[in-house]
Amino acid sequence: MARTTVPDLQRLKAENRKIVMVTAYDATMARLVDAAGADMVLVGDSLGMVIQGNEDTLGVTLEHIAYHGRCVARGLKQAHLTLDMPFLSFQISPQEALRNAGRLVQEGQAQSVKLEGGERSSEAIRLIVEAGIPVVGHVGLTPQSVHALGGFRVQGRSQEAADRIVRDAHAVEDAGAFCIVLESIPEDVAARITEELEIPTIGIGAGPSCDGQVLVCYDLLGFDLSFQPRFVKRYAEMEPAIVGAVRSYASEVRSGAFPTAEHSFQRKQAPARLKRVY
Ligand code: KIV
Repeated sequence: MARTTVPDLQRLKAENRKIVMVTAYDATMARLVDAAGADMVLVGDSLGMVIQGNEDTLGVTLEHIAYHGRCVARGLKQAHLTLDMPFLSFQISPQEALRNAGRLVQEGQAQSVKLEGGERSSEAIRLIVEAGIPVVGHVGLTPQSVHALGGFRVQGRSQEAADRIVRDAHAVEDAGAFCIVLESIPEDVAARITEELEIPTIGIGAGPSCDGQVLVCYDLLGFDLSFQPRFVKRYAEMEPAIVGAVRSYASEVRSGAFPTAEHSFQRKQAPARLKRVY
């Protein structure tokens, strides 16, 4: 099966079909979300929080994203792979942004790159797109600016702030991005942007009008039940399932109930398949 391309994603918007994006950070999760039919898989710099355990995304490097990009690419059969440009990989100069976007293609198997910011990132977006690398924009709450924003909070509540985000979204489109993530903004602001822009909008905490939605895989799967922000819907509760399963394993190891002959090798058996296939 062929991997989803930028024209395929543009066609989804033209046909009024919603785009499904989900994050993944390793080959196993990538295989699962791909099998579930996600259109786009994002190796987000959210990996700084959900994989590395940090409080924000600022410590993530290009090498981290490229490494996880390679891992995820091995698990994908059909979904489009977008890699996030981490903090300081695109802010210093448009030229440096282009070089780093190119590295994510060469070293991380990116089919497209995502970068935060509207007007302030438009020159970088333009140069990357001119080099033939598709770009996903990202406006509203831009987590790499967490300190300037005073925390992870909803953006665009005042008319002035909403107008600024709309201008930013236009700047991203005008610079050549093929799609844009709208994060944590009031739903009417996202609806206005979706109406005014030709490129697809992908929302996270931006309401139902967007052309698609994105969630962090661990959030939608309920890996951490203590984390329940308003924009997340949980489609599974994996935390108790995993803790319960590992508890059962631990108790059977301690009691000697695992492993039995069924899980052990005998000399005269036919060779078993030990290799994992992605
Ligand atoms: O880093 C990330 O995972 C993201 C999405 C939440 C949009 O930017």
